[in-house]
Amino acid sequence: MAVAGQAKLKVLIRRAAIQKRVREVAQQITKDFKGERVHIIGVLKGACIFLSDLVREISLDTSIDFIAVSSYGKGKQSSGQVRVLKDLDSSIEGLNVVLVEDILDTGVTLSYLIRVLQQRRPKVLHIAALLDKPSRRIKEVKAHYVGFTIPNEFVVGYGLDYAERYRNLKDVCVLSLPPE
Ligand code: IMP
Ligand code: MG
Repeated sequence: MAVAGQAKLKVLIRRAAIQKRVREVAQQITKDFKGERVHIIGVLKGACIFLSDLVREISLDTSIDFIAVSSYGKGKQSSGQVRVLKDLDSSIEGLNVVLVEDILDTGVTLSYLIRVLQQRRPKVLHIAALLDKPSRRIKEVKAHYVGFTIPNEFVVGYGLDYAERYRNLKDVCVLSLPPE
């Protein structure tokens, strides 16, 4: 599909496959925390669509919060520096926390967030990432729940952006930009 500026989008994971996998991940979370409450924390903004589909498939007592961090500028490359732009609204002490991310790439963002959140003494801290690009890892991070492991391609859609665009695509697509 051709879009403005001749960027090209190629479907990598279709909507139906995403829906099926999100349901499976939610079932696993439901099983892992059977009979308990889970506190779901979404990393803004990329995780918002994954989180909203995921929570509706979790059959547990659930609460939701969000945290926003910056690591990427407008482009495809990480600046390598993470900072909290919007903190959680409430304490996570003693809670079963599932931290929901759109994609685990270099691991810089999640390793930072894990360190920050562990200091607040949750009972459990599990990581759920819709996508995992293990070939790009700089920091050792393992997600408890991974939707799909993908090759080293820049992807957009289902919450993931390029310069804030394409988050609304229903499929996860590989984005190819024309040479500058
Ligand atoms: P990490 O710190 O390198 O693991 O990167 C995590 C963040 O980078 C994610 O939350 C995304 O916002 C962004 N990111 C990494 N890879 C991609 C991609 O392929 N498409 C869109 N955003 C990405
Ligand atoms: Mg992003």
